[in-house]
This record gives sequence, structure tokens and C-alpha cells, in this order.
Amino acid sequence: MMDWTDRHCRFFHRLISRRAWLYTEMVTTGALLHGDVARHLDHDPFEHPVALQIGGCEASELAKAARLGQRWGYQEINLNCGCPSERVQKGAFGACLMADPTLVADGIKAMQDSVELPISVKHRIGLDHDESPDMVTEFVGQIYDVGCRMFIVHARNAWLKGLSPKQNREVPPLRYAVVHRLKQAFPDAQFVLNGGLHSLADIERHTPGLDGAMVGRAAYHNPWTLSGWDAWLDQTGRLAGVSGPVASSKPAPSLDRDAVELAMVGYMTEQQRSAGVHWYSMARHILGLRHGMPGARLWRQVWSDHRLKHLSPTEVHALAQQALRRHDPVVHDA
Ligand SMILES: Cc1cc2nc3c(=O)[nH]c(=O)nc-3n(C[C@H](O)[C@H](O)[C@H](O)COP(=O)(O)O)c2cc1C
Repeated sequence: MMDWTDRHCRFFHRLISRRAWLYTEMVTTGALLHGDVARHLDHDPFEHPVALQIGGCEASELAKAARLGQRWGYQEINLNCGCPSERVQKGAFGACLMADPTLVADGIKAMQDSVELPISVKHRIGLDHDESPDMVTEFVGQIYDVGCRMFIVHARNAWLKGLSPKQNREVPPLRYAVVHRLKQAFPDAQFVLNGGLHSLADIERHTPGLDGAMVGRAAYHNPWTLSGWDAWLDQTGRLAGVSGPVASSKPAPSLDRDAVELAMVGYMTEQQRSAGVHWYSMARHILGLRHGMPGARLWRQVWSDHRLKHLSPTEVHALAQQALRRHDPVVHDA
């Protein structure tokens, strides 16, 4: 998720779920082909499996970007056809690509011909106020015809005019039935449901018949929600990992919250030492770790206190643990 997630966030999420498939935020072909590739693509193999999400529309550029993704060790390339922001529309990619399935199919084919990795598409179920399923069926059909078999569907329309990106994640109604119908129409393709899923209970309720679920905001705000996924995936034998369609086969040592926090202290210390990344810019990702637990608010205040920036992660951790123990046991804050 652009501006929210990054490699440090993925490292953190990977400590909680070993099997969920993780996705990068959208990286544009322009940034990859003309920018600092290492800054965009460097990551720790511990994060694997990770899909690189690309934003772009021109086939040869998409192919080059996909090759970079493969060289950098990603496990899947995903094309963004769901972002409605005006900036992205000006670049003629993101959600507005849904109006040009032939162009998308060309781009997908170019990427497929260039790399060994699976190529997937993330898209909406329609544009603006057109709620007929015809457009998305045609869109998926053309991409299916060039061999793509993995579709991650944010189950609401994108309104290209008049809504901010934030509103575009809330205002157009969720219509999960459209995704179920797509699965019926293309049964040998994988369909991953996205939008408004908050918990394993939501996933169990809405994904039978589908191949997986992708969780965005809930995973960021309440990352501990990932903690039940590995056991669920093992138990159900489902292909799907939340945040992605294919579960990895990594063993799943289950860490508790304290162990995850401690592992992040080690990670932040090492990143600060070796790459000069300040712990404060990484700690923002862990602030939801104790969401809903007693003491969460005080604990969070310590990890987000800019006045502590001169301390080491180990010292901040000690203060955060003190704050946790100081909590008023009657108030269960979120
Ligand atoms: C801050 C923010 C940034 C996002 N950036 C991306 C992005 O880079 N690529 C993408 O496919 N979706 C992006 N999304 C959309 C989410 O992936 C997801 O489709 C949407 O939030 C609906 O799922 P949710 O209800 O589980 O959050 C972003 C969402 C948020 C809140």
C-alpha cells in the first residue's frame, strides 16, 4: 500500500505469518526504468514470498520492469489495474486500464514472454457507475485469453471522477457476488477476493469457492490478525494466503507478540547500523501490534515518541515494556 507499506513492514508481517503471500506497494515502470532501482526493489529474502506490483501500461516497459523484478528475486509480478488516483490516471495506468483490456492483455503477454514468474492482475469490478458485470467479464476474458490465470479483485467499482483514492476505497459499494460469478465463468483461473475483509471469520464467510483473500487496511492497522492465518491455511489445505493467492511452504514457528517485538528490535538495530535507516521510520509499522490489548495506547506512545529518537531501539523497547506494565488494567484501549 503506497505510503504505508515498505520492505520493513513486510519483514514485520512475515514474522507474524510465514505463509501469507505479501505484495509490494505499486512501483511504476518509470520509477524502475529511470529511477533508483535498488531503492525500490532491495529487500530481505526473509520476506519471501513477495510479489512485486507494477504500475504502467506500455508493453515493452512492463516487460523490462518485470525482468528487473525477477532479477531482484521476487516470486510474482502483479499489474495494478485498480488504482484510481488522478496522478495515476494522468499516467494512463491503474484503474483506467480497465477500459482498455486489449492494452492490458498486450502488457501481460509481454511480461509473460519475458520472465518465468507468474503474472497476476489486480483490478476492480467496474468503472464509475456502470454496475453491469459485462465490462469486468470482458476485461478478465481478454487477459485470460493470453494465459493469465491469477486475478486479485477489489470488489468495488473505481469512480474515476469526483472521489479521492481514500473515498474510492469506501464509497463504491462492495459487490462480492461479481467475483464469485467471475470464478464460475473462468473456473480454472484463481480469483482472490479483496475489499472490506477484516478477519479470518470474514474470509471464511466470503471466500468459499474462491482461491484466496487479500487483506489491506485491516492487516496494517491490526497486524496480529495475521497470526491465525498459517494454522488456518495448514488446516484447510487452501491454496490461498491472505494478501495473496498461493501459500508458501515455509514452516510456521508461532511467535507471540513479545517475540515479534523483540525480533523487530533486532531488525531495526541492524538496519540502523548497516543501512542508516532510523528505527523511528520503521517503528511506525509495528504500532498496531498490540491493538485492542491492555496497555496498547501507552506502549504505542513510546514507539511513536519522536523525543526518543536519540535512543537505541533496545532502549526504546525497554521503555515500551515499562509502559505496557504500567497500564491501567481496567481500561482496555485499542
Ligand atoms: C494507503 C493505501 C495505499 C494503497 N496502495 C495500493 C497500492 O499501491 N496498490 C494496490 O493494489 N492497492 C493499494 N491500496 C488498496 C488496497 O490494496 C486494497 O485494495 C484496498 O484498501 C481494499 O482492501 P481492504 O479493504 O482490505 O483495505 C492501497 C490502500 C491504502 C489504504
